[in-house]
Formats: sequence, structure tokens, C-alpha cells
Amino acid sequence: MSTTPAPPKDRSTVRTLLRLWPYVRPVRARMCTAALVAVLASCIGLVIPLVLKWLVDGPVAERDPQGVWLGALYLLLLGLAEAGLFGLRRWLVARPLAGVEASMRAELYRHLQRVPIAFHDRWASGQLLSRGTTDLMLLRMFLAFPLTFLLVNGVTIIVGVIIMLLQDWVLGLVILGPAVPVVITCVVFERRYASVARRAQDQVGDLTTVVEESVLGIRIIKGFGRHRSQARAFRELSRTLRGTELHKARLLASIWAVIITLPELAIGAALVLGTVRVADGALSAGTLVAFLSTALALRWPVDSIGFLLAMSQEAATATERYFEVMDAERESGTVSVPAPVPAAARGNGARPGGGGARSGDDGLRFHAVRFRYPDAPEGSPPVLDRIDLHIRHGESMALVGATGTGKTTLTALVPRLHEVTSGRITLDGENITAMPREELRTKVAVAFEEPTLFSASVGENVLMGAGGDAGRAELDRALAVAQAGFAHTLPEGTDTQVGEQGLSLSGGQRQRLALARAVVGRPRFLVLDDPLSALDVHTEAAVETALRQVLADTTALIVAHRPSTVLLADRVALLSGGRIAAVGTHHELLRTNAEYAWLMSGADRTGTDGPATAPTDIPEEARR
Ligand SMILES: Nc1ncnc2c1ncn2[C@@H]1O[C@H](COP(=O)(O)OP(=O)(O)OP(=O)(O)O)[C@@H](O)[C@H]1O
Ligand SMILES: [Mg+2]
Repeated sequence: MSTTPAPPKDRSTVRTLLRLWPYVRPVRARMCTAALVAVLASCIGLVIPLVLKWLVDGPVAERDPQGVWLGALYLLLLGLAEAGLFGLRRWLVARPLAGVEASMRAELYRHLQRVPIAFHDRWASGQLLSRGTTDLMLLRMFLAFPLTFLLVNGVTIIVGVIIMLLQDWVLGLVILGPAVPVVITCVVFERRYASVARRAQDQVGDLTTVVEESVLGIRIIKGFGRHRSQARAFRELSRTLRGTELHKARLLASIWAVIITLPELAIGAALVLGTVRVADGALSAGTLVAFLSTALALRWPVDSIGFLLAMSQEAATATERYFEVMDAERESGTVSVPAPVPAAARGNGARPGGGGARSGDDGLRFHAVRFRYPDAPEGSPPVLDRIDLHIRHGESMALVGATGTGKTTLTALVPRLHEVTSGRITLDGENITAMPREELRTKVAVAFEEPTLFSASVGENVLMGAGGDAGRAELDRALAVAQAGFAHTLPEGTDTQVGEQGLSLSGGQRQRLALARAVVGRPRFLVLDDPLSALDVHTEAAVETALRQVLADTTALIVAHRPSTVLLADRVALLSGGRIAAVGTHHELLRTNAEYAWLMSGADRTGTDGPATAPTDIPEEARR
């Protein structure tokens, strides 16, 4: 399981949350209106105690029933206005905030499609998944509630305190007493809560990864009877997460205890003191009622500060986690889009005159290509070192090498799934790094060892390899080339939906569909990584016959393990020790290169061509 970068130690909640501004900017007018409406609603709530005061000191004291009814009507109207305004606030923010969440999610998805493969090698998929779901939901909730209500409640508390001080400043000071300890608690709490919240959100990511891996690897898990140990691993992770969540709950509980108890005590003290003063005649009963109602009206704004702060902390953590992914582009930007240096200027003398060959039909060339994985350990040798290879226009070249020598790595460099560490690769003389990616991807088609299909119809999966205008005819041709006629016999033909990863198809069927996808766009360059490995001998022979026609008018690089696949190609390159050790025809290499002969005979033992004691004994006819 890959890991994710450690979170930064120092961070300011406010500064982190400010990074959301570009996303909130488009809806700022509505957000501000909503906040104003909420402040207004909240202040209307504070007028109610003043009406009460008038009611107690006026009509009630004077025993005037008509006045009491009038007061009750005022109170009702104020209550209705408050409720209506809060409803309006909700209506104002709901739609724009759903939009903000959707656009952030879309941007994350777009970004994940663009970052180099090395990024995905490094990041666990569950971590990305949880950032795109849980974290974004936390952000939307933050924008909907804490952001507005920290402001609204702040204003309400200030206005309320001013009203109380104006009613009676002695009682006001009693109520204000707990402010200092409450603020200190909040500051301490915020810091502790931040670190626990981060831990919880990371653990959700880890848990997601385990779930995802066990769903995708369910066959292995069942096949090896690992469901118990897998379940144990899951249980342990979820127990850890539960522990962290409980830790969060404990922190929240202690802050609530402080935030609720202290103001409550202060209200009690004010009540006692106020009653004594009313009895002494120093204070009117109406003022005391108004004072206490105001204090009670402020209870919710004060109490809610605890969880509003908690939600803000979680939102800050979510923002941090979101931008950890979004910032990846900057880190790899220089790698993924190197400045388009003129091909000839970067030659390094790799091949004399190599960069100069700018004819339209130069084929595919590797010039002194060196590659090491960005996450490889320090000091380890590069996987590929000074690869020089020329596949002429229209030629097909087989790439042979022992397992783990870097064949897959080499093929991944052509469509720029990885960036060369040094050296360059040219298509018809043009450096691939100077080419817009769309152009590169239409010129080069690929099929990998692991044929990946998507949850879509068979036809859609294949046509993914072609431009938007490809239709039925192209689909049928590609299926024919890949010997994937079985697609027509599926229950709904090529409209049949294949499940996640195409798991409902056999390995050979998936491989043939992946091959059809590679050839459907009639690419100028074809890169196939061991495309026939899962096929039986007869299907393989049939695919080869069809593929031969395709190869006749493309330039192809085909990774091959079996002599039968090698024989599809015009020439063979042997990859060994990070270099191209030899290039020649199959028969030449069998005669002249011991390693090649050994590789091919090894392949033979497990392959289909019968024993090959004498290397030259693998005639083409033997395969038919
Ligand atoms: N994402 C990666 N990060 C670091 N090292 C990698 C990564 N992928 C592959 N490697 C290493 O690079 C080397 C070459 O791997 P590669 O997959 O290119 O071999 P291969 O020739 O295709 O092997 P096979 O014939 O088994 O398919 C291996 O030693 C492998 O461990
Ligand atoms: Mg490979």
C-alpha cells in the first residue's frame, strides 16, 4: 500500500481555510446576503426580551389585558420573522454551496487525471477517494454552518452583551465573568482537536484503501482463504479509527462542559443578585425579566461555539488534505511539462545526427534514454540507462528481456506515462515532450499487460481508443483484428455492459478487447506490452494473423515473451542490464546472442513451440 506525505506540523486554521476563497468567490454575494439575513434574524431574537420588559413593566403591572394581547401579538410576529429569515438564509446558501462542492470535486477529479503516474504510484487510492468524498462533504458543511454562524453568533453575543450592560451593568459584568476562562479553553481545545481530527481523517483514508483493495482482490482473498486475516486487518483499522473518534468526542465533551457550565453558573448568580435587587426596589421586575431572557437567548450562540470550532477544525484539515493533492501539480509540473527544448539541442550526442533526422517518417527513436522511478531509493541504479533504439517507419520491433528488466517501464515512456530522466524520445523526428499531449495520445496507442476495462459497454470500452467520430465500422474492424468476435455473441452484443474492471470476462477476452482498443484508432505508433500472453495457442495464432495486417502500416513496439509473438516483428531488441544489448532478427539473435537464445528457449519450455534444443529450430511453420 502506498503512503501519503506527512501533514505539515505548523498551520494556521484561518490561513488554511482562506485557500477556499477562489471556490467561494463566485457565490460570495449570496453568502454575504445569507450572513446578513442570519445576523438580522438573530438580532430580532434579541428584541423579544425588550418586548417582554415592556410587557411586564407596562400592561402586566397595570393589569391591562388588551395591552397583554397586543404584546403577545408583537412577540408572535417577531418569532415568525425570525423563523422566516432563518429559512431564507438556508434557501440562499443551499444551491450555491452544492455548486461549490461539485466544482471542487470536479477539479480534484480532473487533477487526478492529469498528474503523472508516479503520483498514483505514491498515493493510496483510498486516500484520494476519501478526499474526494468525506473531506469535500466536510467543507460544504463548514461553508453552510460554521462559517456563517461563527460570524452570526459572534455578532449576536456582542449585541446581546451590550443590551445586557445597558439594562444593568452590574448584572452584565456578572454574566461576562466566565468569558476569559471560556476563551482560554477554546484556544487550547482548538490546537488539540486539530491534530486528532487530522488523524481521524487520514485513518478514514486508510480504511477506504483496505476496503477498495479487498473488493478488487476478492478472488485472491478467497482463493488463498485470507478472508479471516483480511477481516482482522480491517477490524484493527476500524478499531483504531473508533479510538480516534472517541478521543475527538472526549475533547468535545470537555469543551462543552466548560462552555455550558460556566455561563450557566453566571446566569444563576445574576438571577440571585437580580432578585435581591428587585426586592430592594433597586431594579424593576421588567428589567430583570428582560435581562434574563437576553442571557437565555445568548445560550445557544455561546453553546454552539464548541462544535462550530470543531467543525471549522475538521474543515481546515479537509482543506489541507484537499490541497495536498491539488498542489501535487506544482511539484511535478516541471517534470510533466518540460520546456519544449528543440530536439537537436538536447541530443547530448546520443546518436550522431539522430536529432537531425526530421523527415516525416523517421519512426520511433530512443536517444540515450535514461529512466529511474522518482520514488526509487537513493543511489539505486536507474531502471533504464542509455537506451538507444530506432524503430523505423512501418517497422515492428519486438522487445525481449528477462522479467523485471524494464520492458513495461520502457513502453510507458512513449505515451509519457512516465517522463524520461534524461535523453529523449522522438516520433518522426519530433520530441514527444514538445508535442501537445492530445496529439501524442492520438499518434500512440497502447495496450498493457493488465487489460483494464471500465464499467461501460464493450463497444464503449473499445471505442475509447479512437477519436469521437469513430463508429460501428471501426468497432467491427478492431474487434475482427483482435479476434474479439465473441463480443457479438454476448447477450446484448457490443452493448453488453462489462462489470467493474471487466471482471465478468475471461482474461483472454479482456486482453483481446484491450487490443481492439489499441488498434481501433488506426494509430501511427502502436505500443503493446505482452498483449497476447493470456491467449490459447489457436486464438493467439488467429490474433497474430490479423495483427500482422495492422502492423504492416504502423510503427510498433511489442513486448514479447514467446517466440511466436517475437516472430510477428521485423526485428527484435534485447533489453538487458538497463540497455539495449542487441538488435537483429529473431534468427540472427538466436545464433549470435547467448542470453537471447536462453530467454527464448526458456520461453519455449513453458510456451507452445515444443523443445528448442537448437535455437534455429523454431520455424514459423511450427506455430501454425
Ligand atoms: N512504480 C514503480 N516504482 C518503482 N520501481 C518500479 C515501479 N514499477 C516497476 N519498478 C521496478 O522497475 C523494474 C522494471 O519493472 P518493469 O515492470 O518495467 O519490468 P518488466 O521488464 O516489464 O518485467 P515483466 O517481464 O515481469 O513484465 C523492476 O525492478 C521493478 O521493481
Ligand atoms: Mg512488464
